[in-house]
Amino acid sequence: MSAGCGNESRLVIQRPDEVRERDDYEAALWAGLQAQRRQIPCRFLYDERGAHLFEEITHLDAYYPTRAEQEILDDRAAEIVAACPGGLNLIELGSGSSRKTEVLIEALLREREELLFVPLDVTEEMLRLAGDALVDQHPGLRVHAFAGEYEAGLEWVTAHVGTPRLYLWLGSSIGNFDRAQAGAFLRRMREGMSSGDSLLLGVDLRKDKATLELAYDDPEGVTRDFIENLLVRANRECGTDFDLSQWRMRSRYREQAGHIEIHLESLRAQTVRFAGHGAVRFGEGELIHVEDSFKYSPDELAGLASAAELRILELWTDEAGRFASCLLRV
Ligand code: AVJ
Repeated sequence: MSAGCGNESRLVIQRPDEVRERDDYEAALWAGLQAQRRQIPCRFLYDERGAHLFEEITHLDAYYPTRAEQEILDDRAAEIVAACPGGLNLIELGSGSSRKTEVLIEALLREREELLFVPLDVTEEMLRLAGDALVDQHPGLRVHAFAGEYEAGLEWVTAHVGTPRLYLWLGSSIGNFDRAQAGAFLRRMREGMSSGDSLLLGVDLRKDKATLELAYDDPEGVTRDFIENLLVRANRECGTDFDLSQWRMRSRYREQAGHIEIHLESLRAQTVRFAGHGAVRFGEGELIHVEDSFKYSPDELAGLASAAELRILELWTDEAGRFASCLLRV
């Protein structure tokens, strides 16, 4: 590449060394439909259309988490940066469009000339779009994106990105893990962190059922389209013949357990053919589990941090107390 200071030289997209076996929707779908408790893993929600629909969800009035977290980051960017030791590199897990991150990048670049930003995401297209826009806007910024799974990305960061680091894991993405898995994941993540590294974790808080159920079943029907896209994708990629008019998303809040639970419901008794595998029979009202989204109380957050052996340095919430940004330290 030329020695100039063109934008291209400030954006690098890295792929994992060992290309993992392609995540196979067809095999996972067939296995999930054979299981005792029928299920489709929620990671398959994010094909190209799914990623766009999720982006649309984040702009809905009903879906408050994105706005609540943005409010915290806007209000607290300077404090967050001040709480982290100087000269750090910025890492983001599941960065998507990096829309919320920009305010932190700006706060960091107010204090220094240069910054390295390492976004980790499975969608290379998103990384390129977001990375291009960021280096365009911020002359002092270098973006070294990693296109792959969290685990591979985090390993690469531990080996190649200098310390101290500020890790971001925003959007309550941790909510897709159950509570035990969430603690275990954070604990593994901590093993790759050095003393002086920090993690800013965005977590959706427990709240009234009505607000939560509206956020996960919006009047515009975007969440329905997002969830039902699993069947559209299956028909396209896996050789199934799901009749979309005979399936409906159901989402509800399990108050005691503290999580949203999303299913696809079969509206009548029906048989779905699955080319190359066989057929699957569904009864009327039968459910396929698709996604859980766990919510935390402040006490549960403290428990999560201690399970991962991380210290809570600061905990900010939005004005309405809907969402928390937690600054954690090894
Ligand atoms: C991307 C997992 C944070 O749980 O709020 C939104 C996914 N599913 N609406 C969430 C989702 C339906 C979202 N996360």
